[in-house]
Amino acid sequence: MKGYHIAVVGATGAVGQELLHVLERRNFPVASLRPIASARSAGKSVRFGDELISVDKLVDHSFEKIDIAFFCAGGEVSRKYVPIACQADAIAIDNSSVFRMEPHVPLVIPEINVEDVRGHRGLISNPNCTTAIALMALYPLHRVFGVRRMFAASYQAVSGSGARAIEELTQQVKDAAREPVVNASRTHLPHTSQVYPHPIAFNLLPHVDSFLESGYTKEEMKMQNEGRKIMHLPEFRASATCVRVPVYRAHSVAVSAEFERSASVEQAREVLAKAPGLELVDEPQSNRYPMPLSVAGKDNCQVGRIRIDCALENGLSFWVSGDQLLKGAALNAVQIAELL
Ligand code: A2P
Repeated sequence: MKGYHIAVVGATGAVGQELLHVLERRNFPVASLRPIASARSAGKSVRFGDELISVDKLVDHSFEKIDIAFFCAGGEVSRKYVPIACQADAIAIDNSSVFRMEPHVPLVIPEINVEDVRGHRGLISNPNCTTAIALMALYPLHRVFGVRRMFAASYQAVSGSGARAIEELTQQVKDAAREPVVNASRTHLPHTSQVYPHPIAFNLLPHVDSFLESGYTKEEMKMQNEGRKIMHLPEFRASATCVRVPVYRAHSVAVSAEFERSASVEQAREVLAKAPGLELVDEPQSNRYPMPLSVAGKDNCQVGRIRIDCALENGLSFWVSGDQLLKGAALNAVQIAELL
């Protein structure tokens, strides 16, 4: 066998497009590629290497003779078609949250719980993007100091909401640029929002995913629930506020974490400098710290602003940024396929 027969569901979307680039860039052994999307993409093609491949409409027999099917088309599509792909003997790697917490479904970040892939039964879930980026820095510290709980605020890019959200931000920035701002007091941007409930340009929305009865959003609770599963740490507690920000690409998370054992800043830096998939960028005196623009398009996440947390016992505070389309989605999915 020269390679694997690959299907990408959602190949025209923000994550799907990235996934094609990652497969190509990492020389994944692809024998054939089947890009799949909705009927809206009829007649479209996607580029893979030197080839232009026409996009198929998703149907029940889309997974015949497919070895690995990547799902990047949202929860509803995954809910219906992941079981169909598994029935057809394809291994599904799913970006949606639908199956992540099912006990028999491995939820994998290769740098953290690679062993969990072994028990798969034809379906592996890719973690939530913000959780993945936060854990890339938290887990190495946990291994040495034992994490108890975490408080976090996220700063999430619009590309996490898909291609339409990228267009929405661009349009609102253009609209705003046409009207000069008078003494920075304008409160009314033209309301052209379709993806978000409020303007995203020049604004912050403390609202990612839907609200639960507790007052947290689903996204916020993923940090705790998925964090527990990935780190094999059922007692782990995480309280997060997830915020959508007018950044195109790359999420950042401000983390304060409490540990069993005390850690100095020097010890924490030493641990993080050696962690796989992570770069230490922590020279605040020279204005060097992680930022979305520095990690956009990069495989590695970056961590910096490491300091002793002044409000927690054995606490550390830090700031981590990562490209959520890569480590938070496409790259992690391809890394899982490489493990298989
Ligand atoms: P399409 O481009 O045909 O709408 P994004 O997250 O950037 O919005 O992308 C979502 C991806 O999921 C797109 O490739 C989109 O295809 C695909 N998609 C959305 N709904 C469906 C569906 N019902 N069946 C198949 N693909 C879908």
